[in-house]
Amino acid sequence: MVFYVIGLGLGDAKDITVRGLEIVKRAKRVYLEAYTAILSSHLDVRPLEEFYGREVILATRTMVEQQSDLLFEGAKEEDVAFLVVGDPLAATTHHDLITRAHELGIATRVVHNASIMNAVAACGLYLYTFGQTVSIPFFDEKWRPMSFYHKIATNMNNDMHTLCLLDIKVKEQSRENIARGLEIYEPPRYMTINQALEQLLEAEAEFKLGICTESSWAIGLARIGHDDQVIFSGTVAELLKVDFGGPLHSLVLPSKKLNSFEDIMIFKNHWDVEHREQRLKKFLAEKEAAMLREFEAQQAERRERERRAKEAFAKRQAKLAAQKGAAAGLRGRLGLSSLSSLSRRPESTDSSDSTDTSETDGEGHEYDSSSEAAGNDK
Ligand SMILES: C[S@@+](CC[C@H](N)C(=O)[O-])C[C@H]1O[C@@H](n2cnc3c(N)ncnc32)[C@H](O)[C@@H]1O
Repeated sequence: MVFYVIGLGLGDAKDITVRGLEIVKRAKRVYLEAYTAILSSHLDVRPLEEFYGREVILATRTMVEQQSDLLFEGAKEEDVAFLVVGDPLAATTHHDLITRAHELGIATRVVHNASIMNAVAACGLYLYTFGQTVSIPFFDEKWRPMSFYHKIATNMNNDMHTLCLLDIKVKEQSRENIARGLEIYEPPRYMTINQALEQLLEAEAEFKLGICTESSWAIGLARIGHDDQVIFSGTVAELLKVDFGGPLHSLVLPSKKLNSFEDIMIFKNHWDVEHREQRLKKFLAEKEAAMLREFEAQQAERRERERRAKEAFAKRQAKLAAQKGAAAGLRGRLGLSSLSSLSRRPESTDSSDSTDTSETDGEGHEYDSSSEAAGNDK
């Protein structure tokens, strides 16, 4: 039979797909993986059990990563369902579990669902312009890995937004308890947006690339897909003071180049709810004024270019007229009708016809000064 890996979506028990629910109802056993993400019910399986009308077994990380034989038991003869919050293949490592099932000759099937990887679009930034997603792990006294900072820098340099997924620690043991061989687990921890921002500021202080300073914009997303989801944008300094409530949290660091829709959405989600509209109006007025200033500066620059070109042209015209005047004077003094009569080439007719009289105005535009001199200036 089949080992089904079923996405639960982001909200609550009811976000399972119809296909997923049918499988859950008929499967021999149903497991819930609850260490890479959680539903609104946290680690409580009862709301799922009530909705599905059957028992749901909590699958720990140890069970999935080291004791998968337990999960696969009887899966060749009967269907087994393995439930994962969000999409089972988005930002999780369940490919590994699927590969192990195949090695044992067990058929598998994935039932997809919504993921934070696409639901992040709720903040108003275009999914197309997101770069590499990063994970921010909890720092401890000894371990402060900051590779996420450089990935965010790469995204920013390419004008891309960054989705930061925040660490979850479920059923973790302290170093002391591991050393003593005690099976005592720490309470679950879910990184908050505020903790992530503090760690980002620490990385900024270390590398100083201007990626996440107190005045950088950020967007905090909490409990996306739940009835009480929250999305707030603001500067890092402002968001550090916002209480986003319960887990799960994600953070977005927007690119410095936003399109006009994204600009507006940043203000629509501004944490200062009361003054959102005024801030948006002020921002749009400033943007319009800046665009007008830029347009006017471009126009002035164009006019100045044209003025310089005309000036250069007029100078050349004057020079040419002076040269022609001097030549006419010389002809008069010599009593010649044309200077060409002095030419050593008797067969030559009027050499002035073959003189290259083209001039440039200093801007690369070519003018035929002989026709100009003849009064053909338009
Ligand atoms: C390891 S990823 C697993 C993603 C999951 N498989 C999915 O498709 O959405 C877990 C992280 O995604 C983010 N996340 C997941 N669900 C979320 C939600 N409903 N609201 C905000 N962030 C969420 C959190 O940062 C969380 O720590």
